[in-house]
Amino acid sequence: MIPISITKNTASRISTFDQNNIAFGKIYTDHMFVCDFEDGVWKNARIQSFEAFQLNPATSALHYGQAIFEGMKAFSNEKGEISLFRPRDNARRLNVSAERMMMPSFPEDVFMDGLTKLIEIDSKWVPNVPNSALYIRPYMFATDAYIGVKPSDNYTFCIFCCPVGPYYNKALKVKIEEDYSRAVRGGTGYAKCAGNYAAALKPTAIAQSEGFDQILWTDAIEHRYLEETGTTNIFLVLNGKIVTPEKSDTLLQGITRDSVIQIAKDMGLDVEERKISVDELVEAQKNGTLDEIFISGTAAAILNIDEFGFKGERFAVSADGPNKISEKIKQHLLEIRIGSRADIHEWRVNVT
Ligand code: COI
Repeated sequence: MIPISITKNTASRISTFDQNNIAFGKIYTDHMFVCDFEDGVWKNARIQSFEAFQLNPATSALHYGQAIFEGMKAFSNEKGEISLFRPRDNARRLNVSAERMMMPSFPEDVFMDGLTKLIEIDSKWVPNVPNSALYIRPYMFATDAYIGVKPSDNYTFCIFCCPVGPYYNKALKVKIEEDYSRAVRGGTGYAKCAGNYAAALKPTAIAQSEGFDQILWTDAIEHRYLEETGTTNIFLVLNGKIVTPEKSDTLLQGITRDSVIQIAKDMGLDVEERKISVDELVEAQKNGTLDEIFISGTAAAILNIDEFGFKGERFAVSADGPNKISEKIKQHLLEIRIGSRADIHEWRVNVT
């Protein structure tokens, strides 16, 4: 195990933190965890003040995109106990992305050690007001100063944290995307790499200019099958049955997606992972068998879609009411996260 040095921030900003007024992703805690990959090994693991990196203008990640990331959350309960949700799954997925992008894997034990020490040190930043959490961003990027195209020899791994409220404040309106594509077979769709998100910005901006909040990607070959939104996985509830696009190399293997499927099964609900065509969705909306559509993701949590657009037409979807399956799953998931429900799948990792 690599030793981790700790240098405390002597100018804490915690007194400026107002947990009742949190803008998503704009407030950072006092410390970060950093580790360098040089000469073929990870070294110099350290917890230090959250501060800017110095980068050479030729830093290869900025040119050729060897940059991957994760998103996870820590939660505080009413007793002030802090726990992480499925962090080892994030460590494993980071390494799946690293393998696709020709980057070195990051040791899972160092990931867990750095992460838990960082959360302990910055524990005062974990908010405990409803709908809040500490969002945690592990990521890795190539640092060679070199403009030839090749896998970098040097990398930085970092984890920093932001206290957050909800990513979205209301049910979403999504445009089913028919022109632009997110991922193809053999591409990088399943990897959480920076470029996947950059490529979504233009079609998302177009959808937003048409009055939507987000895009709902379809497959790149026929634009016929649903995949995921620009920020989350998706689920449909058809006549009481939960249906979600099956895993493939064009889909991000969401950890919240996986938790939703498991919780739904634990609740005795039917879940199908399969291809879902846009035609099936439109037909279900028209014949009244579409009970709900909801999204799942770490940042966005679980949230309904109340309208989708396709070929210039807009279709309303019911998005409120206490009997919503998404609401029950959301509540169940929250209770596991904060420790008020038995954690039968051992998803929670206590920090303090
Ligand atoms: C997350 O949900 O954690 C993500 O990484 C998605 C990002 C668009 C905020």
